[in-house]
Amino acid sequence: MRPALKVSALSRSKTALGDMAEDHEITKVQELIYTTRVESVMAPDVIVISPSATMAEARALMREKHISGMPVVEGDRMVGIVSMSDVMESLEKGSLGRPVFEMMTRDVKTAFSDSYVAEVIGRLGPRGFGRIPVIDREGRLVGILTTGTLIQSLLREMDIRYKKKEEEKLQSYRASHIYDDIVSDDTSLVLRYIVDDKDFSNAGKASSGIKKSLQRLRVLPSIVRRVAVAVYEAEMNLVIHTDVGGEITVDIRRDRLLISAVDHGPGIENISEVLKPGYSTAPQWIRDMGFGAGMGLANIKRCSDSMRILSELGGGTRLDIIFLFRDHPVGGGPVGGKRA
Ligand SMILES: Nc1ncnc2c1ncn2[C@@H]1O[C@H](COP(=O)(O)OP(=O)(O)O)[C@@H](O)[C@H]1O
Ligand SMILES: [Mg+2]
Repeated sequence: MRPALKVSALSRSKTALGDMAEDHEITKVQELIYTTRVESVMAPDVIVISPSATMAEARALMREKHISGMPVVEGDRMVGIVSMSDVMESLEKGSLGRPVFEMMTRDVKTAFSDSYVAEVIGRLGPRGFGRIPVIDREGRLVGILTTGTLIQSLLREMDIRYKKKEEEKLQSYRASHIYDDIVSDDTSLVLRYIVDDKDFSNAGKASSGIKKSLQRLRVLPSIVRRVAVAVYEAEMNLVIHTDVGGEITVDIRRDRLLISAVDHGPGIENISEVLKPGYSTAPQWIRDMGFGAGMGLANIKRCSDSMRILSELGGGTRLDIIFLFRDHPVGGGPVGGKRA
């Protein structure tokens, strides 16, 4: 039974690639072309010719560089494109001595370097253009896209992604076996992350590190998502509200996750208020950066199985969060030691 087949078969007709591959492969190719930008698949060194050069010179340049067309550039402006078919037309007319600007195509279709490949791929090829000049948002010619360079670069990109996936698989395989390899009645893995105050350039590193580690331990994706949200909020509170930062500790048991975020000040004045959605003491400059909506602790409570906050004004704050793995213990198998 493959219920997903119908859905992808429906969306397939919308792709620029027609029906060239099986459904599951199409999805991967689609993902590739929808996530790869033109600038990473174009040829950055463009061979160009001046509009005042002769068609004979254009022909010689194409022959020398093994290309079948090129943009015509005057100063830093692209004014047209000249191709082998224009050269052939000149040959027939006996006008190889005429300047390029008389024979070139003036209405050139270009692509923006920051567009996704999916947006332009349909315009290339036997029924489209042989080459598409690539411009940046200021209109400067920055590269050229041909079927050849596109295929080469996409294959390279696929190779890189495939290797990354294989590496990730191996790492997740290794990590998920930790619990099998250690002999104890109950094993727990403790991760520690130091979070600096007001360090916005590193904010989010602890939560993404925890997320990656849990993925490698093959924790259920739905739980990983909830943990990632909760830890991100806890981390941001250490960044935003503390004097000297703090520490996040994640204790990964086979059946549960115990997370704590601890700091040494300034502590919380209105502990009964902080859980209310919208309550925030964040100063204006923090709000100007898009933080301080007062939803952090409410989100943590919503995502987790249990949460507790202890604080003393002038002292520190301790936030404890618990997630239960329930029917999906880390490392598989039964929980609680004495394993066969
Ligand atoms: N570690 C902490 N130290 C001091 N105050 C904190 C800490 N964590 C939270 N608070 C207080 O709790 C309030 C609510 O937190 P939260 O719900 O995350 O919203 P926000 O961070 O957007 O203000 C904060 O505005 C702050 O006053
Ligand atoms: Mg917060």
